[in-house]
Amino acid sequence: MALKDSDVISIRDLEKKDVELVLRKAKEMEAAVRVGRILNKMRGRSLATLFFEPSTRTILSFNAAMQKLGGDVLNFGRIEQSSVAKGESLVDTVKIVEGYSDLIVIRHPKEGSARLAADVSEKPVINGGDGSNQHPTQTLLDLYSIKKFKGKIGGLNISLFGDLKHARVMKSLAYALAMFNANLTLVSPFGLEMDKTMVEEIKERFGSSVIQTNDMQAGMRNADVLYVCRIQKERFADAYEAERLQRVFRITPKIIEQGKEDLVILHALPKVAEIDPEVNKMKQAKYFEQAALGVPVRMAIIDLVIG
Ligand code: NCD
Repeated sequence: MALKDSDVISIRDLEKKDVELVLRKAKEMEAAVRVGRILNKMRGRSLATLFFEPSTRTILSFNAAMQKLGGDVLNFGRIEQSSVAKGESLVDTVKIVEGYSDLIVIRHPKEGSARLAADVSEKPVINGGDGSNQHPTQTLLDLYSIKKFKGKIGGLNISLFGDLKHARVMKSLAYALAMFNANLTLVSPFGLEMDKTMVEEIKERFGSSVIQTNDMQAGMRNADVLYVCRIQKERFADAYEAERLQRVFRITPKIIEQGKEDLVILHALPKVAEIDPEVNKMKQAKYFEQAALGVPVRMAIIDLVIG
């Protein structure tokens, strides 16, 4: 698909050439941001964020991205203060917000809600995360980060580590990494493996090598990139089970020292207990730099969709 005037709901909607275009454009945007340039490309245009779930990075980096492009942002704010609290439906809310804006970014706890919003909206809709399903713009930022820190994506050994059952960032990312011919190792606690049909889809579609393991150490032995995510406690039926797993499935400096010297550790953030804070000081830890790259990547996405 070409990105112009399109919705970005699932990473599956993008072809490799679309992803490459975003990565190229993001590089231009990063250079502009570095020298403090505010571009005027979005003057008079508005981005609306419709977030029904908590967010720090996605919402703020979309805001910052639109502002750096010279546009305005409309934030929906707290759900309790909006008409959703009076019982307004998602469909009606989207129909209202499309009248106020040129582009809508939505985050919602229900899988499929972003697709529904896109179906009813005349304006393009970007999925900022729908339940445990997809988070395509995080993936574009992750690919950009991997390319920046490792110089390439194809051929790298990339371990995805954590709650692969519930984390939407991992589902989007696994697909995209396979598209770029990375070798995937999926490392999760027992019971939190990535959905089988998703793994089969990746293998069949891209002929990728995918190793699955519950063994933390084995899962990162040959990794060039270790991508960690938190146990998604809010998506568990049993919160105690989530807390138990948070205590055992944890990256420590000792584990990192056994890995490759030039390992890069990424994380979509927020991190809770899955990374020992001591790891933050290690040269392998790149997740804060990764988060900052959300701005140029989202500038690129906005520009390609409504520019
Ligand atoms: C992620 C999300 O919301 O899915 N956060 C983000 O967008 N940076 C990761 C998470 O919540 O674990």
